[in-house]
Amino acid sequence: MPFNFVKKLKNILEVDIGVVVTEDLDPRKINAFHQCYRSEMGIPWVLPIVKEIEVLMTNEMLVCQEELPGFGLNSFRTAVTELVLGKDNDRVANGHVLTVQSLSTVGALRMISEIAWKQLKLRQIYVPDSTWAGDHPTFLAAGFPKPKTYRYYDHDKHELDIEGMIQDLQEISSDAVVVFYSCCHNPTGCDPTPKQWKRIVEAIGATTLFPLIDLSYQGLASGDPDIDAFPIRLFARLGIEMAVCITFGHNFLLYNDRIGAAMFFVRRPDDIPPLKSHLAALIDSMYGIPPYHGAKIVATILNTPKYYEQWIGYLNKIRNQTQEARNNFVAALKRFDVPGNWNYISKGTGMNAFINLTDRQIQHLILYHHVYIRTNASLNVGALSDDKIEYVAEAIADCIKEYPAVEESDK
Ligand SMILES: Cc1ncc(COP(=O)(O)O)c(C=O)c1O
Repeated sequence: MPFNFVKKLKNILEVDIGVVVTEDLDPRKINAFHQCYRSEMGIPWVLPIVKEIEVLMTNEMLVCQEELPGFGLNSFRTAVTELVLGKDNDRVANGHVLTVQSLSTVGALRMISEIAWKQLKLRQIYVPDSTWAGDHPTFLAAGFPKPKTYRYYDHDKHELDIEGMIQDLQEISSDAVVVFYSCCHNPTGCDPTPKQWKRIVEAIGATTLFPLIDLSYQGLASGDPDIDAFPIRLFARLGIEMAVCITFGHNFLLYNDRIGAAMFFVRRPDDIPPLKSHLAALIDSMYGIPPYHGAKIVATILNTPKYYEQWIGYLNKIRNQTQEARNNFVAALKRFDVPGNWNYISKGTGMNAFINLTDRQIQHLILYHHVYIRTNASLNVGALSDDKIEYVAEAIADCIKEYPAVEESDK
């Protein structure tokens, strides 16, 4: 039988924890492993405006079963371009920008890495030394070798290693993609300041490196989508050729709709038609027609002033609650005398916090306390209600007491 020949793949990612966490039925279980937001009640939340628009859709006022064009819903594509770049952007006016609907960030990454490998002939990808590794399988599938890293996070000072980062960026060879995160860096929660972004863009501008900017949390760092898109607008202003991948999973809480976009920035409008032809072929070979539901919801919210205003309100609610969870987590770690200075967690952005635990401590946290975090010692604080924060902090204190040694071999 042909399936006899199929060999199990070695796990590239944390797939096993993802499976174990769903199978663990212990009532104490806390899932701080996933990337989703939870309300103050600790439960999944659907934005009320999303429900309202869905009612309009089921009442057939907005329903559509006509095939969408391969590049997606046009009202969605123009709204996304404006959300990312603001109104009246020069690069858009000059025909330098192509925005294509995608299956969230992962789908956008698939398109971008295929184009980067096959058409731009780029041969290496660089990612921060602490990074979200969920994009690595997509890079590998496109043909790239294992990503290399540039210095990003100083684990002792818990801040951006800006000097190391600039130095590394200047030394990267020219046929490379360099991945950046516009805001809410996963897993460190540490973003460059506007001043640091200016230094980064200067370093990149002097090279022919191809920036790939991940915009998966627009609005969730500052509460203002314009501020969180600052790095992209800065790169765009300098005429840099680059790509941006976007998901509306996090900022519209539309995780399952798989709605996002890939943006391509070229220097000459004439470069758009060949690019389009390759993207069309790629989309045809992957899924043909993009999904309508999430695109219509996002487009309706972005294009309707009443809904847009309410969305900004919800963004701020999510952002403020997450920030409060970060502060409460720090206070709880201190209450349980967990050794270390945890204040950096309060200063971070987004849902993720880094907590320097060793592999042994993480294992104890998962197996004994049923608290699931990621193997890179980061957890989703945004998923934790106050009572859960208390339990997690106490469990961490116990892990450190139980396995105090932080040996190099243990990391
Ligand atoms: C930085 C980053 N990019 C991309 C994603 C993936 O988003 P999506 O599943 O909506 O494609 C995540 C989700 O965890 C993320 O943290």
